[in-house]
Amino acid sequence: MGKLSLYNKTFAQLDEYLTALTVYWLFEAFHYKDYPWHETNPALSDFLDNLSEQELQHYQQFPDQLTPFLYPFIKSLRPLTDDLFTVNKLTSITEDLPFWLSTGIKGRKWSQISAFADQVESDLNIIEWCAGKGHLGRLISWQKKLPVLSIEWQQTLCDVGESQAKKQQVQQIFKQADVLKGQADSCINTGSHVISLHACGDLHLHLIKLAKQKKPQQLTISPCCYHLTEQSIYQPCSLLAKKSSLILSKQILKLAVSKQITTGKRQSRLSETEVLWRLAFDECQKYCLQTERYCPLPSFPKKLLTGEFKAFVLWAMHKKSLTFTLPEMLQPFLVLAESRLKKVRRMELISQFFVRPLELWLVYDRVLALQESGYQVKLSTFCASQITPRNLLIEAQL
Ligand SMILES: C[S@@+](CC[C@H](N)C(=O)[O-])C[C@H]1O[C@@H](n2cnc3c(N)ncnc32)[C@H](O)[C@@H]1O
Repeated sequence: MGKLSLYNKTFAQLDEYLTALTVYWLFEAFHYKDYPWHETNPALSDFLDNLSEQELQHYQQFPDQLTPFLYPFIKSLRPLTDDLFTVNKLTSITEDLPFWLSTGIKGRKWSQISAFADQVESDLNIIEWCAGKGHLGRLISWQKKLPVLSIEWQQTLCDVGESQAKKQQVQQIFKQADVLKGQADSCINTGSHVISLHACGDLHLHLIKLAKQKKPQQLTISPCCYHLTEQSIYQPCSLLAKKSSLILSKQILKLAVSKQITTGKRQSRLSETEVLWRLAFDECQKYCLQTERYCPLPSFPKKLLTGEFKAFVLWAMHKKSLTFTLPEMLQPFLVLAESRLKKVRRMELISQFFVRPLELWLVYDRVLALQESGYQVKLSTFCASQITPRNLLIEAQL
């Protein structure tokens, strides 16, 4: 079977799977007081409520061990290791690189960059799309002795990249451009190989749409942050995905990138407090304003979490331009939030089974769109998920 029909078939299977089980993942846990399936699958709710905190933490870490216990409640659940969610793994050459090439690049970022660079086979002009400081482009230029044009929106990053390229004597130049305004469209032509490492949402989508028109010879793209988009509802790129009945809001798209690498105990303690305080504030505003509507808060400096809860509530009221008289005792809202948080964590235990399937659905949509534009496309992973969970790599060639 050719790649075209193979990827079509995989996408259709993913779509069917995700569509059939939306009740287990297509929701925003913070908006719910009880499980979205509490009426349709009370036995699953009971099972989750009976999990101890220790068990919860264990299964958060080792979700696959939970799968056999979930089968009685969700018969069509597939394990995370299911063939449908498995893509070809690329191997790295692990060439010893001189230490000075990685100056100023953190360990994990360097591992991503060198693994990505290993997959770039080219003698074409390389265009690095949304390059940051152009670390990837610099390494590729050095390794393959190729000219690289790195496109980046922030002038300061262009300046840093340009000065490092000069120091390391590589053929890399920078262009400051806003790719979403089409300011880099003219850089791409049929002789280009465009590489893009973790250009967020619309940034890589623009490139995929542009490829249809400009026909660069090759593209190597590792997508990320699917939710960083202008569209409030996801607009599929491929014909097959346009036929899907899934309606994905920006908030739901966040689920696809919710598998993060956890870093250290302090951070996870802070993030637990952050969720608790967000929920407690929500309980407080619901009580004071006599509403049932969830009140989302923007991101905030983590320093706020080290102060008093009352100060956080006052900050949140100010941010949301809410005016109400605060009750003297705020502790009851924290207690209510504790019990909501318990449910939220258990909802996430279920929805995490759909994180990779959803990401794959989104990435196959991009793959199919490129195939429709005439490319031969290969989807693989270019590094281990411990190095970056955003490890999918789309390689397209005309
Ligand atoms: C997640 S970073 C990835 C950087 C780099 N490719 C890497 O992997 O380290 C995304 C980059 O896109 C740049 N960017 C954001 N909006 C852009 C735009 N409209 N046009 C061009 N670059 C943009 C950001 O400044 C940032 O450097």
